[in-house]
Amino acid sequence: MNDDDQPAPIVRFERVSKKFGTTPVLREVTLDLMPGMLAGLVGVNGAGKTTMIKCLLDFCSFESGRIELLGLPHSQPQSRQQLAFLPERFVPPHFLTGRQFIKAMAGIAAHPYDEELVLGTFGDLDLSSDVLDRPVRTLSKGMTQKLGLAACLLSKRRFFVLDEPMSGLDPKGRVRVKHKLKQLKQNGNTLLMTSHSLADIEEICDHMLVLHNGQIAFAGAPAEFRSRFGASNLEQAFLSCIESSHG
Ligand SMILES: Nc1ncnc2c1ncn2[C@@H]1O[C@H](COP(=O)(O)OP(=O)(O)O)[C@@H](O)[C@H]1O
Ligand SMILES: [Mg+2]
Repeated sequence: MNDDDQPAPIVRFERVSKKFGTTPVLREVTLDLMPGMLAGLVGVNGAGKTTMIKCLLDFCSFESGRIELLGLPHSQPQSRQQLAFLPERFVPPHFLTGRQFIKAMAGIAAHPYDEELVLGTFGDLDLSSDVLDRPVRTLSKGMTQKLGLAACLLSKRRFFVLDEPMSGLDPKGRVRVKHKLKQLKQNGNTLLMTSHSLADIEEICDHMLVLHNGQIAFAGAPAEFRSRFGASNLEQAFLSCIESSHG
């Protein structure tokens, strides 16, 4: 808790600026994510969503500003102790079976491998149990994605950072994954996800961040986003938002 009894943010970006070469991608990005939020980060292709996540995870440097996770500077490994991450292009080590991969993840998180729990999570995601015995290199894109999601959900971590978690999933998989992500809220977890689908964001998330021209053009509830731009749906609101925000 801080002075005014507000809970501390799980993530804080303070005026974070990042360039690739001479091209600015993030321009003084400032935001807070509070515990228990299910936050959806949206923006056009190339807006800088993945770059924001890479900065957050200390995978890349940035020119100025600061990032805190759990109140600690993002460069400190302890700041990531509650974090589970699914990258945009998730590629598990090709020589492992599904079981070996999940076991390795359990080992990293220092908790025992519990096959019953694993199969329960696989079932929730509509992922067949035979994935445990198959080399991961033989899995389809969607199955691989679900394997990565299963590993995150089994990690017993409380803060999920998922970059395009829905990509490559079939309609049944999408329904199952959306259901699982919505459930994170009930257990007090925090989510930061990116998605190309505004409908998915509206369905899953209670907080929206719109990244445009390197800045957060909107932060708030999806319903507020629609009403702010006088739109009946998020797509219309999104178009109005990016047309009205100048670089
Ligand atoms: N390693 C890199 N080197 C140079 N430019 C990059 C690199 N990674 C991303 N970019 C550029 O930064 C911009 C933002 O990319 P990215 O964060 O992947 O966008 P998004 O995830 O929103 O689609 C794009 O113009 C992309 O081409
Ligand atoms: Mg991306």
